Amino acid sequence: MASPILFFGLLAFVFIAALASDPSPLQDFCVADTNSQVLLNGLACKDPKIVEANDFSSSGLHIAGNTSNPLGSRVTPMTAAQIPGLNSLEISLVRIDYAPGGINPPHTHPHATKILRVLEGSLEVGFVTSNPQNRLITKVLQKGDVFVFPIGLVHYQRNVGNESAIIIAALSSQNPGVITIAKAVFGSKPQIPNDILVKAFQVDNDVVNYIRSKF
Ligand SMILES: *[C@@H]1O[C@H](CO)[C@@H](O)[C@H](O)[C@H]1NC(C)=O
Ligand SMILES: *[C@@H]1O[C@H](CO)[C@@H](O)[C@H](O)[C@H]1NC(C)=O
Repeated sequence: MASPILFFGLLAFVFIAALASDPSPLQDFCVADTNSQVLLNGLACKDPKIVEANDFSSSGLHIAGNTSNPLGSRVTPMTAAQIPGLNSLEISLVRIDYAPGGINPPHTHPHATKILRVLEGSLEVGFVTSNPQNRLITKVLQKGDVFVFPIGLVHYQRNVGNESAIIIAALSSQNPGVITIAKAVFGSKPQIPNDILVKAFQVDNDVVNYIRSKF
């Protein structure tokens, strides 16, 4: 039988590996070469000799996002896709605008924890813990307040004020990824078979078809 020390050592390793964020860089930077055809974990590096300041820069985050859509919100990302110099650097930023009553619907970031700061407005935020508790942890935030959404957990925001709300959030990945729960489950291509969703949600086939039609 394995010793308890070995067992807990292995457990700690598995735990750390499962929670780890982006791998640490092995060089000063690896500015993304957006023309490279090489597929790897992240993006291939541009020759460091031709890297320039603009590779580490972007602009426009002062501009309000257009919230005229069914959700009443708009995410403006600043990830490695917008700033090639973020490649391999374990961090990114977003601005989110919310119309009054607007929501950022339940979603998860498979690769990142998010820390959010309210610039303007009042925002209800929440995340749900894993099975079996599925506890909703929620709070109403005001201008200047900060809230953390732990990596992988389903979370949302809603503008509960009468004015537009704005947040800036930092995420612990160059590419946080987004899985919007409703879209992933009801809008996948090809579709998840109806009978699976009928049993999963304990509803009639018609209800599944109705929700699908919205995606
Ligand atoms: C905002 O989006 C709506 C819907 O797509 C569009 O009709 C409208 O022109 C946009 N407004 C601006 C200022 O771009
Ligand atoms: C929002 O507007 C309603 C109706 O005008 C008002 O009763 C309420 O106090 C306002 N709420 C805030 C947070 O300003």
